[in-house]
Amino acid sequence: MGIASGIQKSGTIASYLYKGDCLEVMDELINEGVKVDAIITDPPYGIDYQSFRTKREKLQNDDNLDWVEGFTTRCSKLLKHGQHLYCFVDPEYSPEFILGFRQNGFKIRNLLSIPRGGSKGVGGDRIFQQQNEFCIFATLGKKSEGRKFNQTQILKPSEVYLKDKRYQPKEWLYRLPDVWHWTKASEHNSANKLHPTQKYVPCIEDMLHISTNENDLVLDPFMGSGTTGVACKNTNRRFIGIELNDNYFKIAAERLNL
Ligand SMILES: C[S@@+](CC[C@H](N)C(=O)[O-])C[C@H]1O[C@@H](n2cnc3c(N)ncnc32)[C@H](O)[C@@H]1O
Repeated sequence: MGIASGIQKSGTIASYLYKGDCLEVMDELINEGVKVDAIITDPPYGIDYQSFRTKREKLQNDDNLDWVEGFTTRCSKLLKHGQHLYCFVDPEYSPEFILGFRQNGFKIRNLLSIPRGGSKGVGGDRIFQQQNEFCIFATLGKKSEGRKFNQTQILKPSEVYLKDKRYQPKEWLYRLPDVWHWTKASEHNSANKLHPTQKYVPCIEDMLHISTNENDLVLDPFMGSGTTGVACKNTNRRFIGIELNDNYFKIAAERLNL
C-alpha cells in the first residue's frame, strides 16, 4: 500500500491508526478506494483553545480553518452515499463547516445540542455560559436518500407517550430529539482524562448504535486520544483513526491495545 512519506500506520483488521496529517492520509485512503459507513469526528474548532485551568499545550491547527474546505471535500469522497456524519463544532465557527459540507453534497439534518457534562463554559457579563456542545449531523446525498436510524432503546418512551394515540405505530415512540439530554459530550472525570478536549465514550457509542451496524467501518480523521475508536471497539465496529500529534497517537494506540 503506498503511504505518503511521514505517515505511519499500525493496526489490525478491527482498528487501523494512522499518524500524520489527515488530509494526506484521507487522500491515500481515497486512492485505495476505501469507503466508510460513518464519519464521527471532533476536529479543532478554530478557536485556539487552551484549557483555562490546566494550561496544557494548544491543539495543532486550531488557530485557523484554512483546512476545512479540503477536509469536507475528502469526507464526501470517503463516506458511502446516504450514510451519516457527526462533526462537533464551535458555535462561532460552525458556518465554515456547514458550508463546506453542504458544498460537497452533504445534507445538513441537525445541529445536535449535547450537554457538556461536568465543566461549563466560563460565561460572564458579555457572554452566556455555554452549557452544551454542538455537533453537525449530516447525510451524504439528498434528504430522501439518508440512511434510516436503527431502532434503538436509547430513550425509553415516557408513560405519557405510551397512552397517546398519536404515537402509533410503535416505532414513533423512539423518535430521538436533537437535544441529547440523556448523555454528555465531554469526559470530565480527571481519572479518565487523556486529552484536553476528550469526548465521552458512551455518547459516541450512542451515535454508533443509531447510525451503524456491527462490523461497519467508521472513520475519525481527528481522533485525538482515540475516543471514537474505543466506542467502536466496545460496540464491534471497525475503525480508522488519524492523528497528527505523536503523544495523542500513542495514547490512542494504547487505549486500543495496538
Ligand atoms: C478536538 S481534538 C479531538 C479529541 C478527541 N475527540 C478525543 O476524545 O480525544 C482534535 C485533534 O486533532 C488533531 N489534529 C489537528 N490537526 C490535525 C491534522 N491535520 N490531521 C490529524 N490530526 C490533527 C489534534 O492534535 C487533536 O488531538
